[in-house]
Amino acid sequence: PREAVARTIAGMEFFDLSAWSAQRRDRIDRRLAEAIPSEETPPMEIHRAMRYATLAPGKRIRPLLCAAAADALGADAVPDPDEGEHADDVVRLGCALELVHSYSLVHDDLPAMDDDTWRRGRLTVHKVFGEAAAILVGDALLTLAFEEAAGCAGNDRYPAARYVTALATAVGSRGLVAGQATDLEAEGTAPDADTVRFIHRNKMARLIRCAVELGGMAAGAADDDLDRLRTYGDRIGLAFQIVDDLLDLTGDLASLGKQPGADAALRKSTWPAVFGIDRSRADARDLVDEALSAVEPFDADAAPLRAIGRLVIDRES
Ligand code: IPE
Ligand code: IPE
Ligand code: MG
Ligand code: MG
Ligand code: MG
Repeated sequence: PREAVARTIAGMEFFDLSAWSAQRRDRIDRRLAEAIPSEETPPMEIHRAMRYATLAPGKRIRPLLCAAAADALGADAVPDPDEGEHADDVVRLGCALELVHSYSLVHDDLPAMDDDTWRRGRLTVHKVFGEAAAILVGDALLTLAFEEAAGCAGNDRYPAARYVTALATAVGSRGLVAGQATDLEAEGTAPDADTVRFIHRNKMARLIRCAVELGGMAAGAADDDLDRLRTYGDRIGLAFQIVDDLLDLTGDLASLGKQPGADAALRKSTWPAVFGIDRSRADARDLVDEALSAVEPFDADAAPLRAIGRLVIDRES
């Protein structure tokens, strides 16, 4: 039988997020290191750059959300230290999510997009390897993500093809790409509420929602439970991007690992630009509350989803 993820003592929930995350993070990082070809595999420069971009110290929030959603359904597998190519679906899907995310960052930082110099405390990929390599690195990471998702075992309710379709619709031109295109189009224009909602929902919330959806699918979730996870993911995703916008105003390079002030410099349509700082903070809190209400029926098993949800608004990096 599975160990309870959280203990409740006198009505208080005790859940050790850092121990829980460290264990899952380690599995994801090992799988990523294995899935991306080695630096000795030609084209060596591209593989070196793929590893540089992806194995960098990111928060791994999407893979962690995927595992937390599987946990909420009572299905996150017991860690296997030697899983190798037999990694379970939750780990593989986490890896696929992180590969897609990593691609989106490499391209987001390009001169034609946000033109950034720092990412995850390192020089951006195009600064180190050149622009053409950065474009190809993004292409290769995105492609590898689908290879990884397609290699999943699937289950009675969801064959691996369902995972692939969910990921594709979340990040294609009706998802992440739509958000990124609109984000660029809106630069320098007067920000308005509908546009910023569209941008944030698509460039950020769709992939976050997909992360919990995939965790739920890997756990064989029924439709109503998947809907609960989708609501959670949508609200957490929006809150996550609002906080990203706030950190761009208030954070520093050392803790963010990326240059603050970049949104104002490009006159981006951000949440605080439309609603102001105080309302943005309140909106992020309200969205997280909504997310946590949606997963209440999962009871104690939702402890990781709750803890990550709270972290989204309390974070400083
Ligand atoms: C940063 O995402 C880029 C956005 C989509 C706002 P994260 O804040 O999850 O970045 P890492 O993965 O921890 O570097
Ligand atoms: C990027 O949003 C979203 C994606 C990469 C899809 P931002 O442009 O705000 O991300 P940062 O601030 O550069 O990390
Ligand atoms: Mg951007
Ligand atoms: Mg950017
Ligand atoms: Mg940002």
